Amino acid sequence: MNSKERMDKLIAHASEVFDKVRELQDLGLICDDGDFVPSVHYPPITEYPDGGEDYLRDFTMPEDGMMDVYVHIPFCIQHCSYCHYPGKVGECDEEKEKYIGYLMREMDLYLDRFQISKIKPRSILLGGGTPTDLKPDLFEHFLSELGSRLDLSACRQYNVDHDPNSILGDDGIRRLEAMKKAGITRLTIGVQSLNDDVLKRMNRPHSAAEAEEAVRRAVDYGFDVNIEFIYGYPGETFENWVEVIDRAVTLPVGEIQLYRLKVQTYGDAQGPINRLHRGSALGDIPDFRTTMMMKQMAIDVLNENGYHETLRRVYAKDKRVFSHYAYNQCCNQYDQVGFGITGFSSYRDRFDINTQYFPQYYQMVDEGRLPITRAYKRSADDQIRWAIVLPLKNRDIRKADFRKHTGIEFDTVFRKKMEILTKYGLIEDTGKVVRLTELGGFVADEVCEQFNGDNFKPFPRERYADGPLNPYNFNRVLD
Ligand SMILES: C[S@@+](CC[C@H](N)C(=O)[O-])C[C@H]1O[C@@H](n2cnc3c(N)ncnc32)[C@H](O)[C@@H]1O
Ligand code: SF4
Repeated sequence: MNSKERMDKLIAHASEVFDKVRELQDLGLICDDGDFVPSVHYPPITEYPDGGEDYLRDFTMPEDGMMDVYVHIPFCIQHCSYCHYPGKVGECDEEKEKYIGYLMREMDLYLDRFQISKIKPRSILLGGGTPTDLKPDLFEHFLSELGSRLDLSACRQYNVDHDPNSILGDDGIRRLEAMKKAGITRLTIGVQSLNDDVLKRMNRPHSAAEAEEAVRRAVDYGFDVNIEFIYGYPGETFENWVEVIDRAVTLPVGEIQLYRLKVQTYGDAQGPINRLHRGSALGDIPDFRTTMMMKQMAIDVLNENGYHETLRRVYAKDKRVFSHYAYNQCCNQYDQVGFGITGFSSYRDRFDINTQYFPQYYQMVDEGRLPITRAYKRSADDQIRWAIVLPLKNRDIRKADFRKHTGIEFDTVFRKKMEILTKYGLIEDTGKVVRLTELGGFVADEVCEQFNGDNFKPFPRERYADGPLNPYNFNRVLD
C-alpha cells in the first residue's frame, strides 16, 4: 500500500467511527457541540466544597499502612499555550528554594497527623508543573529530603513528569543521575507533538529533535519511558498528525499517551489558549469531527505497531505497562496522599485538595496547619458513584471491589442505565467485572459521566439531545 492509499484507509475508518459517535450524539450521549470535560475524579475535583484539615479528625490509616504519594512542583520554564495548570514560570530560584522547604514542612505535618515516621508508598508521582525545572543542586536536595520521609521498601513504581529540555545538556545529565540515585523508575516526558510548527504554536520550550533526543537519553539511562501527545491542536492536520504518531512508534518507549485538547478550563486557571485563539495567533482549533477522527487514526497506527490500550488513553506493547499511581488510585481505589500547591489526597471515603495560592500555602504551613482548602467526606450516594466512575473510566469495575467500597451489590444499582448503555453497545458485563466496550472506551468520559449526579454533570440537560442516552435520564442510584 502506498502512503496515499494508507492515508485514505485511515481516513475512511476514522470517518466510519465518527459516524457512530454522531449517532451517539443524536441519542444524547455527547453534548451539542461535542465539547467534553475529562472524567478524572468523582465528584469532579473542582467541585469540592470549602473545607480544611478538620475533616480528617476521624481518619484512620489503611490497614496495611500504605499510601500512594503525589508531590506537586508548580514551576515551568514557560507557559505552554494549552495548559490550564496554575504555576510560576521563569527562573524564580529563591521562590523554588522556599517552596521546597515548605513542601518538606507540609510532609512533616502529615507525618505528625498520621503518627508515623515515614510514608510507605506503593507508587509515587512527582508532577506539576515540571519537577525537573528545578536547578540540579536544588533538585538533588529535594529528592534527598523527600527520600528521607519515605519508606521505599514496597514501592513498585516511582515516576516523574518532565518536559524534554530538562533532561538535556549537562544539567539534564545531573538530573538523570540524581533520579537514578533516588530510586526513580519511570519518566513521563511531555513530547506533545513531533511537528516543529505545532510545537511552536504550543509554546513548547523544545523542538521535535530535542524531544526525541531526550527520550533516547532517558531510555539509555535505564528508565521506563512514557510519552504524551495532544491531538486536536491548531496546526495539526490528518497528514502531519499521522506523521507524528508514525515517528512516535519508532521511539524506544514503553507507553504512549493521547490527550484530547481541552480548550475551556475545567476549573483550574484558564490557560492562554482561548485568548490566543481569538487573536488568531494559533490558527483554527480543529472541529469535533476532525479531532475525533485524529484520535481514531492514532489508535489505528498504534494498534498496527503493537500498541494497545492498557489503561484509558495509555497505549503500550506490554499489557502490564501503565502508571501504577493512576491504577492504584482509580482502579484499586487505594488511599493516596498529595503534597504541595494544588496537591490532592484521595482516600477510601473522602477527598481533599490544597490551596492553589503560594502566599496561602506558606501561611497555612507557618501556622502548623495542613494547607487543605477544599475537602469532602462522600455521602453514601457519592460513594457509589465514585466506586463506578473511576474504575470504569480507567479499566473496569470489579464487582467484589464495588461491594468492598460501598457495602452493596453492584447488580442492585443503576439497573435501568446499565440496560440502556448495554443496549447501545457502550458497556459489557462479564459477571465479575463491568467494562466499556471498544466504542464505549472511545467516548469514555461521556459514558462515565452518565453516572455523575445531576449536580455534577459537565453540561446542563438542554445541551444534550433529548434521547435515551441523555445523561440526566434514570440518574438515581436505585432507578
Ligand atoms: C500537568 S501536564 C505536565 C506535563 C509536563 N510539565 C510537560 O511539560 O510536558 C500533564 C499532561 O497533561 C496534558 N495536558 C495539559 N494541558 C492540556 C490541555 N489543555 N488539553 C489536553 N491535554 C493537556 C499534556 O499532555 C501534559 O503532558
Ligand atoms: S504542559 Fe507542563 S511545561 Fe507546559 S505549562 Fe503545563 S505544566 Fe508547565
